[in-house]
Amino acid sequence: QGLHALMVAAGKLYFGTAMETNNFNDMAYQAISSNRNEFGMFTPENSQKWEVTEPTQNQFSFTQADQVAMKVKSNGQLLRCHTLTWHSQLPGFVTTTTWTRATLTAALTAHITNVMKHYAGFCYAWDVVNEALNEDGSFRQSVFFKTLGPSYIPLSFSLAAAADPTAKLYYNDFNLETTAAKADGALKIVQLIQSPPQNITGARIDGVGFQAHLNVGQTPTRAQLAATLRRFTALGVEVAYTELDIAHTKLPASEADNQKQAADYVATVGSCLDVKECVGITVWQFSDKYSWVPGTFPGKGEACLYTEGFEKKVAYEAVVGLLRST
Ligand code: G3I
Repeated sequence: QGLHALMVAAGKLYFGTAMETNNFNDMAYQAISSNRNEFGMFTPENSQKWEVTEPTQNQFSFTQADQVAMKVKSNGQLLRCHTLTWHSQLPGFVTTTTWTRATLTAALTAHITNVMKHYAGFCYAWDVVNEALNEDGSFRQSVFFKTLGPSYIPLSFSLAAAADPTAKLYYNDFNLETTAAKADGALKIVQLIQSPPQNITGARIDGVGFQAHLNVGQTPTRAQLAATLRRFTALGVEVAYTELDIAHTKLPASEADNQKQAADYVATVGSCLDVKECVGITVWQFSDKYSWVPGTFPGKGEACLYTEGFEKKVAYEAVVGLLRST
């Protein structure tokens, strides 16, 4: 039994992974990712981002993400969709236009409505707003914040709720697991969406995504992680780990480092098992061959459950052991 089958047996909805169209012709990768026992949920790693889906204003392109969606659907697997309102990977027109409140509201409305309606019925969840916070819990000075203030967040969730009533609507961010001030900021975001300004109607939030881009030896304990998840579920939302990977900060990793990585994976997966409203876990690629980490943080890496050569690591066996014993 693989990761997904064991997660389902443990009472959760899924174990998933990021995937992209450039992974399609890698047969070893496909053999693992097409196995429904191993992975039940997929997130397009890049192809649903604004620069890909609307590269030019009001001209939408879904070719790449559609290929991921069709593959997943034909395998009887599910899709987590990612992402709508984010400061990064934006097309030129969003970053260069001199926006007014009215014109940016119209652009955001067109983007969220068109992309979500295209995938309506396909997405278990959407990461509606991604990474709106600085590390100290204050709002990131994105184009959206600078033009619309904090209300761009409930506005996005109101537009999303109207575009696809069946998708779970998530706020998604990193370091919520490790940085209490940032988690405080995210709790305020949940409350802002639950009690939006009067002129915003129909906003709904169903979940908070913990990206969980963690480091070996710097991962909180299972109890600490579960306590952080519970701060959010206390507000009535579900939670999930949405982009899990645990990077070695020192390479090559020693046997002891790999044991530590395994313990950190077990703590993270275990914390989801401990919290009823934690619905599932997505790893941000399952093989080091496709991990984003070394490209962005030279000197860090080997963050995934499988090696570059698709061998199962100590961390993989430890997660399976944990799930089997649950
Ligand atoms: O598409 C171009 C290609 O045409 C070009 O030849 C190539 C040369 O560098 O770049 C390609 O773009 C790359 C893109 O991924 C698609 O592969 C970018 O350089 C690269 O920076 C980009 O990285 C992605 C990153 O988001 C960018 O923000 C990673 O793959 C992706 O894993 C990462 O994912 C994010 C989540 O969406 C949000 N949370 C953090 C997470 C990790 O950064």
